[in-house]
Amino acid sequence: MNTTTAQTVSPSPAAAFEAAPPTPVKVAVIVGSNREGRFGPVVAEWLLRRVREHEGFEADVVDLADVDLPTSLSFRPSADVVTELAKVTPKLADADAFIVLTPEYNHSFPASLKNVIDWHRAEWEAKPVGLVSYGGISGGLRAVEHLRQVFAELHMVTVRDTVSFHNAGGLFDDDGNHKDPALADAAAKGMLDQLHWWAWALRSAKEERAYGR
Ligand SMILES: Cc1cc2nc3c(=O)[nH]c(=O)nc-3n(C[C@H](O)[C@H](O)[C@H](O)COP(=O)(O)O)c2cc1C
Repeated sequence: MNTTTAQTVSPSPAAAFEAAPPTPVKVAVIVGSNREGRFGPVVAEWLLRRVREHEGFEADVVDLADVDLPTSLSFRPSADVVTELAKVTPKLADADAFIVLTPEYNHSFPASLKNVIDWHRAEWEAKPVGLVSYGGISGGLRAVEHLRQVFAELHMVTVRDTVSFHNAGGLFDDDGNHKDPALADAAAKGMLDQLHWWAWALRSAKEERAYGR
């Protein structure tokens, strides 16, 4: 018997992006490293250029080197801590989506990132996050996979595609330009297309119905 099955062709994230409504997705780009002499700003500048070139995003930056949060959490933070929280909490609350830029420290992500994650809860919930990593030979991929576990606990969606820079220090010239950008540019576009789709989908759904847990 000759049967013909009607095939449904799913649109790619890029095609779905073309059909997306014009309201920009507010994305908070979190620069996760705060170490003295860090390499993070080089990758952050590269990343921010890609986000700003990608249609449909309105980017804000949360640089953890500019925030001094204690590791002891409190429901009654001191005035100093309230001042520090004011640098970051409103940006997280306002965001439809996040991009976390993480280095790899000892096979995971740095304590600075875990700290800012733990200081917040509702700000993360039912939002998507794209992950960009850098490090030595591993390119920060172990940090990325650990972050997926943490963000799942916070009711977040981590987008499938990531961007990773292996032996990152040698990949950029003195002006912060990637020496051989084609693959990284393509990876960034894929991640940003998917992030935009998830942000649009979740934002639209939340307009219809509050997220229930
Ligand atoms: C404390 C520490 C631990 C590190 N552990 C790893 C590691 O486990 N795997 C890896 O590939 N690179 C590791 N590195 C290298 C960093 O990922 C790399 O130096 C990166 O540039 C650090 O980011 P930053 O300069 O923005 O802080 C480590 C670096 C530091 C400072």
